[in-house]
Amino acid sequence: MADKRTIPILYTAAEIKERTEAMAAEIAKVMPQEFVLVALLRGSFMFTADLVRELYAIGVHPMIDFMTLSSYGSGTQSSGTVVIQRDISEEVGGRDVLIVDDILETGRTLAFAREELLRRGARSLKVAMLLEKPGKLTVDVKADFVGFSIPDKFVVGYGLDYANHYRELPFIGYLDVH
Ligand code: IMP
Ligand code: MG
Repeated sequence: MADKRTIPILYTAAEIKERTEAMAAEIAKVMPQEFVLVALLRGSFMFTADLVRELYAIGVHPMIDFMTLSSYGSGTQSSGTVVIQRDISEEVGGRDVLIVDDILETGRTLAFAREELLRRGARSLKVAMLLEKPGKLTVDVKADFVGFSIPDKFVVGYGLDYANHYRELPFIGYLDVH
């Protein structure tokens, strides 16, 4: 386990806050008055908590629900198969949905969530991603709102983990694993 005090920082807490505030404004412009925000756990928990407070500050009040998906095993390589570990409790049929997730890499997690929510009858579906790693998509999906496009590094912190560690870091850093 790398010493958490020496993790190289990619984005500071202040930079994340500034970007999250701007993203909330972009989202407010596009989303309808009422919508269901579906956060994909566990990686998006911190981003979601901050994003909804920024939305609140500008008068946007979504219903909020959580879906726990898993594609990675315990390391840094995706297993490729996405499973629902815990489902949302809201009905999304006929409703406008905003998916919130931590990072877009191959796109398999997002493609799975999109297809599942559309299959349940979501009327419209948009996606807010904290991070994306350009050039790594293996399926045809995209995010409507992106926080930061990052270099091809394994990032941790601000909700993102390595073997369920580092989620508590208030900044986004990276590990030298590949
Ligand atoms: P995808 O399905 O390949 O797009 O991967 C998306 C999921 O993989 C994210 O929701 C993360 O949980 C995880 N992931 C991908 N890249 C990283 C990373 O650099 N750090 C931590 N988790 C990652
Ligand atoms: Mg993860």
